[in-house]
Amino acid sequence: MSKLTVYRGEVFDFMDSPLEREEAYRYFPDGALVVQEGEIVDCGPFQEMDGRYADCERVDYSGKLLMPGFIDSHIHYPQAEIIGMYGKQLLDWLNDYTFPAEQAFASPEHADKVAHFFIRELLRNGTTACMAYATVHPASVAALFSVASEYNMCMLAGKVLMDRNAPAGLTDTVESGESESRSLIERWHGKGRNRYVITPRFALSCSSEQLAAAGRLHKQYPDTYIQTHLSENKNEIANTLSLFPDCRDYLEVYERAGLVTDRSVFGHCIHLSESESRRLATAGSIVAHCPTSNLFLGSGLFDMQRANRTGLQTLLATDVGAGTSFSMLRTMGEAYKVQQLNGYPMSVFESLYKCTLGAAKALHLDDEIGSFKPGCKADFIVLDYAATPLQQTRMEYLRRNGKWTLEGKLFGLQTLGDDRNVRAVYVRGKKMNFSSF
Ligand code: GUN
Ligand code: ZN
Repeated sequence: MSKLTVYRGEVFDFMDSPLEREEAYRYFPDGALVVQEGEIVDCGPFQEMDGRYADCERVDYSGKLLMPGFIDSHIHYPQAEIIGMYGKQLLDWLNDYTFPAEQAFASPEHADKVAHFFIRELLRNGTTACMAYATVHPASVAALFSVASEYNMCMLAGKVLMDRNAPAGLTDTVESGESESRSLIERWHGKGRNRYVITPRFALSCSSEQLAAAGRLHKQYPDTYIQTHLSENKNEIANTLSLFPDCRDYLEVYERAGLVTDRSVFGHCIHLSESESRRLATAGSIVAHCPTSNLFLGSGLFDMQRANRTGLQTLLATDVGAGTSFSMLRTMGEAYKVQQLNGYPMSVFESLYKCTLGAAKALHLDDEIGSFKPGCKADFIVLDYAATPLQQTRMEYLRRNGKWTLEGKLFGLQTLGDDRNVRAVYVRGKKMNFSSF
């Protein structure tokens, strides 16, 4: 039998949604995670695991938190270099920074270089799976899937479809977009841990014929995913409605094309009507809320409480490069502040769920990632609660004042944490070597 490894530390994961029941998570303060051949075998109290698995390797992370790796459900890998560029709102930002940066991906060497940087940066931040936009160039998708395969990482990604309102070097046609997407699906979808995501950028950059082609493609390959942007910015919405005058609202543009499914992830969704929210919920579609991006571009305040009330599946995501951090801890911290401005002090458990098991479930991947269920891949992270002097001081305060609770510690990670708190990252049971990053 092949080698078992027992990792000792504080062990935490979800079994259910904390919005549905209070005891939705498991927490073993002195716990252990048991891994064999890159898969989770067991987890529980250390003493119990120690007895059950006698003759095996032990790795001691006592005092550190072992939890499933983060899942980032909306991110643009070609925008890694243009993070934090000054200026204006969505449409200007796209024209001034994003489109010029994406044109460089006509070069496969550039795509390969940025894909390596991107994946290392995700891993360094404790993100072990993501749903990513590439560019319009098919080779940009191949570069990302190839690098993800080198690291054995779970990667969902696709070629951007854009047949209008973008520079010439960045547009495809209905026919070329469809045939290139089909080739990429045939080549990469389900190969290793890669999955293909059909990716019409948004209604402003796709003709109705191209959106319809994307919908047809999904019908032909029903286990692919769909990703696009929806209702992010007021000018974007007004321009969309003038381009699609027959549609009563923004969502209907995507509905008509067959793009509103239970495998569709819609970025942002800040300014939805009640009717749009309900229709998304009924379809089982997924909303990726991107707080650092929404604040940075001044797009607006997503109403999480309303989304929850409507039964919408909402995940947290970075949206790099409009988002200002690769860190899901930073993203959770900013999500908390956005909801504070809406009068909803969102719990740290809700935030954590929406970038671990909640994301895995929404993406139909919960047999592979998102928790420590036996058989899941051993994609996990080791977090240090006290990586900086300020965090140490706060932790000592908790200890001295009888506030040494899981919630108190997690909330500190959410408010003050970032990549400095990520002590170790394991993908399929293999420890990532940051020094080579
Ligand atoms: N809408 C269309 N494309 C984009 C993009 O690249 N980033 C964001 N934030 N919104 C978009
Ligand atoms: Zn985006």
